[in-house]
Amino acid sequence: MTLTDVDELCTAIRGSLVGDPRGIKVAKLLEDYALHARDWRAFCHFAEGRYTRNLVYRCAEFELLLLCWGAGHESPIHCHDGQDCWMAVLDGELEEVHFRQRRGPGGALAEGRTSRFQRGGVAFIHDAIALHLIRPAPRSSGVSLHLYAGAIDRCRVFERETGRSELVTLGYDTVRGEVCTKPPEAVRAEWGRGGPPAG
Ligand SMILES: [Fe+2]
Repeated sequence: MTLTDVDELCTAIRGSLVGDPRGIKVAKLLEDYALHARDWRAFCHFAEGRYTRNLVYRCAEFELLLLCWGAGHESPIHCHDGQDCWMAVLDGELEEVHFRQRRGPGGALAEGRTSRFQRGGVAFIHDAIALHLIRPAPRSSGVSLHLYAGAIDRCRVFERETGRSELVTLGYDTVRGEVCTKPPEAVRAEWGRGGPPAG
């Protein structure tokens, strides 16, 4: 299978999520798309000083986002709200750093392994595996495709030194390539009515 169209990818994901509890088939689809597709460039949107979250597709089963990373950008350390998350690198080189909470209240997070991914590389995570942060490799920028099944509307972000966390609501910088000025609840309501919103 050679996937070159993001809507074909979404159809294939929908058919593969069921009966694939370890996500092997889904990871293969994302790898295939990452190695062959170019249409994701229409959804790229970079911002000064921070990475961006760009909604590509959302349905009852999953959400697909394009994240754009400039040199020096970094996500907070975060959990995944009990959902499965795959990250496929489309361009550049990205690092994933694992963390875990120590037993008992308070205390710094324990840093685990760091992995690097280049175009076609796919990472998988859920809360039982680890917390993590994502950033471009030194001197690199990057673009990554994130599949959340189900969608993650909020997650906890963690302070490395104390292990303290707070719940944050996640928003979108663009939706299908258009700059998003609506609150995330409004975007979710539109997609919840089925398919991409018109216009
Ligand atoms: Fe993540």
